[in-house]
Amino acid sequence: MTAVTSLLGAISGIGREPRSGGYARPVFSTAERDLRAWFVGEAEARGLDVEIDPNGILWAWWGTPGPDAVVTGSHLDSVPGGGAFDGPLGVAAALAAVDVLRERGFAPAKPLAIAVFPEEEGSRFGVACLGSRLLTGALSPDAARRLTDREGDTLADVFAAGGIDPAGIGPDPETLARIGVFVELHVEQGRGLIDLDRPFAVAESILGHGRFKVTVRGEGNHAGTTLMADRRDPLVAAAAMVGRIAELAGAVDDARATVGRFEPVPGGTNVIASSVDFWIDARHPDDDVTRRLIADIDRMCGGIAAAQGCEAVLVEESWSPTVGFDPALARRIGSALADAPYLRTGAGHDAGILASVVPTGMLFVRNPSGISHSPEEHVVDADADASAAALADVLQDLLS
Ligand code: GLV
Ligand code: MN
Ligand code: MN
Ligand code: MN
Repeated sequence: MTAVTSLLGAISGIGREPRSGGYARPVFSTAERDLRAWFVGEAEARGLDVEIDPNGILWAWWGTPGPDAVVTGSHLDSVPGGGAFDGPLGVAAALAAVDVLRERGFAPAKPLAIAVFPEEEGSRFGVACLGSRLLTGALSPDAARRLTDREGDTLADVFAAGGIDPAGIGPDPETLARIGVFVELHVEQGRGLIDLDRPFAVAESILGHGRFKVTVRGEGNHAGTTLMADRRDPLVAAAAMVGRIAELAGAVDDARATVGRFEPVPGGTNVIASSVDFWIDARHPDDDVTRRLIADIDRMCGGIAAAQGCEAVLVEESWSPTVGFDPALARRIGSALADAPYLRTGAGHDAGILASVVPTGMLFVRNPSGISHSPEEHVVDADADASAAALADVLQDLLS
């Protein structure tokens, strides 16, 4: 068996980002394409049949592709400054789990597939879980084709350059009909397993979350000739909004709201910005609470903008309702893992999108730093390697 740590070791140099010390692996970047090529090579080396579907999802099949397949997998794209495990751990563990099952001499009664989803993080085009949303019809292909990245390149052009015909993206009932059950293994992204002192957990639910873009417009002008009283500075307004967002979210039990991307336009030291774009990620277990929080934030932004002679517009970019995973499947995963504990997660996953259409479950692997979306994200070698056997146990049960 190839250990999960050796599989991850082979890709550890791909997509390093010197400034953050983490990884930058946006979908269809050179780095992510290299990772996809690595996956295809590893799958083919195991005799799996690799297909790419119309939405750019990679499928590696053990057995004939067909209905009632047991599917596992994750993603290879990363956030900017991401860790080594968010996504790749689930892909490497899936490859290694196939080795484990074969070493056990196990003959699956159903087809098994490993899936690799593009743009799970939404770090290039803004919509999280883009591949699984297209597959299930949760995102319209027209809207997807029009999405642009930071350079202004459209998703249609970027997918075409990556070998995916943009005319063919969208709901894919044929591919969906093959999935009998989907199980994603993922690094835990908080402190849940540290606190429980356990290596693995079963996912219970995912917090609902939304992404919103705020544009604040003011008046661009000269930093030296414009008196303070004469300014309509959108950056002053936007900075005040960011502080208030943290206060408003902090006042709601269990809510989280983050501004992690903030872009003054045009962005010059001696230039009063003409506009500012910033993005809010808001999450809470109760979707109505998230909606109310965003409505409060929207009103607050309007008020601050007006006081600065500016305008603010808040637009929703993506919405993911709270997901409760299939309880029967969760119980099955839990018992295959020696009664692993249950955890809810604040992080989003393709499993959350698939859960609305097929029985879906997740397993989490302990992260001793409790930190994710950062180079500090970590999994110790023993847990990473043990995750292959844990996933194999779950798959073996589902494939029998
Ligand atoms: C992705 O990991 C997210 O939760 O935003
Ligand atoms: Mn992930
Ligand atoms: Mn992530
Ligand atoms: Mn995620």
